[in-house]
Amino acid sequence: MARQPAAAWAASVEAKPDVSHATPSPLAAHRSKTLSGSVRVPGDKSISHRALMFGALSTGRTRITGLLEGEDILNTAKALQALGCPIEKSNGTWQVLGRGVGGLQQPGGPIDYGNAGTGVRLIMGIIAGHDMSVRLTGDASLSRRPMGRILKPLIRMGLDVEEGDKDPLPLTISGTTDLVPIEYTLPVASAQIKSAVLLAGLHAAGETSVIEPEATRDHTERMLAYFGAQISATKRQGLRAITIKGDAELAGRDVAVPGDPSSAAFIAAAALIVPGSEVLIENVLINPTRTGFYVTLREMGADIAFLNERNEGGEPVADVRIRHARLKGVRVPAARAPSMIDEYPVLACIAAYAKGETHMEGLAELKVKESDRLAATVAGLVANGVKAKAENDALIVEGGAGVTGGGTVATHLDHRIAMAFLTLGLGADRPVTVDDAGMIATSFPEFSSVMGSLGAPLAKPENVS
Ligand code: S3P
Repeated sequence: MARQPAAAWAASVEAKPDVSHATPSPLAAHRSKTLSGSVRVPGDKSISHRALMFGALSTGRTRITGLLEGEDILNTAKALQALGCPIEKSNGTWQVLGRGVGGLQQPGGPIDYGNAGTGVRLIMGIIAGHDMSVRLTGDASLSRRPMGRILKPLIRMGLDVEEGDKDPLPLTISGTTDLVPIEYTLPVASAQIKSAVLLAGLHAAGETSVIEPEATRDHTERMLAYFGAQISATKRQGLRAITIKGDAELAGRDVAVPGDPSSAAFIAAAALIVPGSEVLIENVLINPTRTGFYVTLREMGADIAFLNERNEGGEPVADVRIRHARLKGVRVPAARAPSMIDEYPVLACIAAYAKGETHMEGLAELKVKESDRLAATVAGLVANGVKAKAENDALIVEGGAGVTGGGTVATHLDHRIAMAFLTLGLGADRPVTVDDAGMIATSFPEFSSVMGSLGAPLAKPENVS
C-alpha cells in the first residue's frame, strides 16, 4: 500500500488552548430588535472531519480551505497527528501530508476525542484497517453515547475490542491489515455507521457494501469518489447500496468546505423568530441529504430563497436568504428525520412561535446525540413557558401563545441545545438563559459574534436586564 516518506513538517495543529470545559459559562438571550445583514457560518462539520481524514489516507497533499476550526475538528486533526500524519495551517489553508491507505502509525498514547461523536466513530473505521492498538477516550457526553453500533460491523470485519462487549468509551481497539470485506445493512439511519464501515472497507481486500434503509448524508461517498476511491451506489430491492473497493489508493486533493447548514439553521431561526428581520447567509451547503430543515420551514410558511446556486467541489452550495414571516405548525414526517436530524431542537424553538401544533415524528435517534435532545428540548421549552411534550419518539410543540422566557435551560454538554435556546430567547418576554454556552465552541465558535453582527443581543446573564 502507498506510503509517503515522513516529511520534515512541523507537526503542529494550530489548536486553540486546551479547553476542558470544567467551568460552565452561562449565557442569556433577550428580546431582539429586527435582525439584518449578511453573514457566513463556519465550514460544514461533517465535511471538515472527512476532508482531514481522507487527506490523511491519501498520497500527496490535501489542501483544505474553509475548514471548521471548532474543537471537534481540531480533535480530529490532533488524532491524525498522533497517528503519524503531519497537518499544518499556513495562510488560512490547512495542509495534510497524506500517509496513504493503511499508512498511519501506532500513536504514543490514548486519543482523546472530547465531545466529537462523528470524529471518534469515523476514526474507528480507519484504525480497524491498521495493525495497531489504540485507546480512545472522550468527555462525559461522548462517554455516554453508544459505540456498539459502530463496533458491531467492524468486529465482523476483524477489529478487536479489548473490553469485549462493553459499549461506550473509553475503549481500546485493535485493527488488522487483514480486514474482511462485508455486506452490512444499517440497523438505524446513521451516516456515521455507514462511513465507518466504508472507511474500513477501503482497507479490506475485496468489496464492502453498506445498505441503507433510509438515505443519510452522503458526504463520504461524494468525497471518497473525489479522492479517487472506487465507490458506487445502486438500488437493491428498493434500498440504496453503497459499494467500495478495498486495497484502495487515494490521491490528495484541494477541498473547499462550504458553510454548515446545521449552523446556518440557528441564524435562519433567529430571522424567523424576530419580526421584520431579513438575513443573508452566504455559501451554505444545500446537499439534499441535509436540507430537510429548509423543506419544513417552507411548509410552515417561511420566506426562504436559495440564491446563486452553484457546485463547489462536488457539493451544491447557495446563499440562503431568510425573511421573517408568520409561521404555522406542521407535521414533520419520520422519513425526513435523517435529512434534518441535527435541526430538531432549533425547529422546536421556531415552532414555539408558529401558530398551532408542530408534530415531529420518528425521533428515537435524538436520544443518543450529544445529549438526549428529545428530553432536553422538551425541558427547555417547558422551562420557558412553552407547551411541549415527547410522545412515542415524537416531539410535539404547541406554538403561537407567546414565549414567556425567564427559564434556565440545562444544556448537558450539548452545543446545539445551547444555540437553539439562545435563539428562542430572541423573541421571548423575559431573557432565556443557557446554563453553559462553552460547548458551542465545538461546532460554531463564532456564534455569539455572528449573532451580534446581525443585532441579536447575547450576554452573560448578570448583564441582561
Ligand atoms: C454526522 C451524522 C449524524 C449527525 C452528526 C454528523 C456525520 O449522526 O447527527 O452530527 O457527519 O456523519 P448519525 O450518523 O449518528 O445520525
